[in-house]
Amino acid sequence: MTIQWFPGHMAKARRQVTEKLKLIDIVYELVDARIPVSSRNPMIDEIVSNKPRIILLNKADMADAKVTREWLDYFNLEGTTTKAIAIDSQSGKGLQQIGSLSKELLKGKFDKMQSRGIRPRAIRALIVGIPNVGKSTLINRLAKKNIAQTGDRPGVTKAQQWVKVGKELELLDTPGILWPKFEDQDVGYRLATTGAIKDTIINLQDIAVFALRFLSEAYPERLKDRYGLEEIPEDIVDLFDAIGSRRGCKMSGGLIDYDKTAELVIREIRQEKLGKLSLERPETLI
Ligand code: G4P
Repeated sequence: MTIQWFPGHMAKARRQVTEKLKLIDIVYELVDARIPVSSRNPMIDEIVSNKPRIILLNKADMADAKVTREWLDYFNLEGTTTKAIAIDSQSGKGLQQIGSLSKELLKGKFDKMQSRGIRPRAIRALIVGIPNVGKSTLINRLAKKNIAQTGDRPGVTKAQQWVKVGKELELLDTPGILWPKFEDQDVGYRLATTGAIKDTIINLQDIAVFALRFLSEAYPERLKDRYGLEEIPEDIVDLFDAIGSRRGCKMSGGLIDYDKTAELVIREIRQEKLGKLSLERPETLI
């Protein structure tokens, strides 16, 4: 799904999420486990404020497991009502933790309600996240049927409905869609490398340059193995030439076709041909 985000849309999206927060007990903030920072809304802490929150590192099946563990330690700070877990919404892995952790985070609130004589009810939750992070997939997995087709695009209103997840949890059927941090060019490149934004928005060769520079630094052995390189050339054009020549990405006359090479590299990264990759790690934030 592509959404054109303009200041008016952002303000409206924020208002819609803020309205929904009044209806729920807990927020499930969905991020991409491969890029937990770039796939976040820059104002999320302010928007969610002091509501209990679970950060769901989704698509953990495609991320580097070691780095995902580092992110869990980073987000799971003692003594806060924000916790994080790693999940894979497509297969359903990790989803069973969501209900139990929600109960734990809301125990105080629900005990208080009970002591005031309020009848026990299901926990109410809202899923929020940027486009393509897996919100619909998660809702459908949790609900065990096809519910969220479109999310709620800014400008389209529809009656709120609750989706039951077992006896103790209810989700709003339309997730809250928020925008990523566009101002940062590297954020755009990371989103594009994982396929979260359309390839037409950022030049494919630029994405491949970014991705190859990243791989040369963070996963040099995988890059060498995949493309049969003895050494990784320092000059990015030489690296394109080496990969393009290995893989027959050539134009008539034998010159390397850089568009084809870029397309191949990006496709192979997304298809996990270079293994499970994490494009961000907590230590690079400090
Ligand atoms: P959204 O509502 O937040 O916009 O995202 P959506 O659920 O549509 O998911 C976006 C893409 O991410 C979908 O792939 C979906 O299958 C995939 N996805 C969601 N969660 C996971 C996960 O945990 N692991 C993996 N590997 N993929 C996940 P798509 O290519 O757009 O569609 P399709 O391949 O499902 O047809």
